[in-house]
Amino acid sequence: MIKKLRKAVLPVAGLGTRFLPATKATAKEMLPVVDKPLIQYAVEEARAAGIEQFCLVTGRGKTALVEHFDIAYELEATLKERGKHRELRDLRENHLPPGAIATVRQQEPLGLGHAIWCARAFIGDDPFAILLPDDLVLADTPCTKQLADAYYETGGCVVAVSEVPHEQTNRYGILAIGHDDGRLVEVLGLVEKPKPEVAPSNLSIIGRYVLMPQVMEYLSRMERGAGNEVQLTDAMAKLIGQVPFHGLRYEGRRFDCGDKVGFLEAQIAFALKRPDLAPAVRAFLKTYMHECATPAG
Ligand code: UTP
Repeated sequence: MIKKLRKAVLPVAGLGTRFLPATKATAKEMLPVVDKPLIQYAVEEARAAGIEQFCLVTGRGKTALVEHFDIAYELEATLKERGKHRELRDLRENHLPPGAIATVRQQEPLGLGHAIWCARAFIGDDPFAILLPDDLVLADTPCTKQLADAYYETGGCVVAVSEVPHEQTNRYGILAIGHDDGRLVEVLGLVEKPKPEVAPSNLSIIGRYVLMPQVMEYLSRMERGAGNEVQLTDAMAKLIGQVPFHGLRYEGRRFDCGDKVGFLEAQIAFALKRPDLAPAVRAFLKTYMHECATPAG
């Protein structure tokens, strides 16, 4: 019997060094794309896939992430008093049912695999989704919903994948692939950050996964991989052959918001989807395009 997917782990304990100084006293996952912090996009995406229980893997200086999902009594009362009904409604939509959000602490950022392992008691014997909030996916059907559907179809692990330029395989977790129907790809192997000359394909994993709880056994060995970190990819690789394992070519566009250029691109792409902002954004983009096309001088 395929168990219902109800749980998600959101690792948010990284240092976010690529975004310093913004991330000195603020979590990277609190950075907004247009007007919503990255963490809220991730939680909304997971809820749209039927996820009911969330575990944030946090570290020092990350309390704002938890506060963000709490009730802000004073603010709500003030908004009500001032007749700001739309703002109040938006704020209330962000409330999660009592007890739906748990946190565990990763005292030291020893790698993504180590962060996921910190949530082992929360996961128990259940399948679970992982969303890395700094990966943002713009899609008609939320990416985690696409993965959940593929999980119910296959009954095993599913990771969201996209093609990357061959010369960039050393930045990603890469798949060795078997049968490929154009949407679902059978996973035969996984390698973290392989050099282009030894990469088994150019299909890379993005920050969306549905995994089986057995992965925790392998993570608990604390084997260090690429970058001397405990890599999730290495533990996942050990599940191949034990449980069905597929890559899903998801529908949508992914933005790496942990990277400055990806973050800026996400601002534009998400703003262009907003009817209240799109006309003004299109207008200023035209000005910048014109400036780019005109030689300086
Ligand atoms: P990144 O590789 O983007 O690392 O982590 P980072 O520390 O956040 O950012 P940079 O590279 O220093 O700029 C991917 C995801 O895994 C989490 C991060 O919070 C992010 O969501 N992570 C990473 C942890 O929770 N713990 C870790 O030890 C490492």
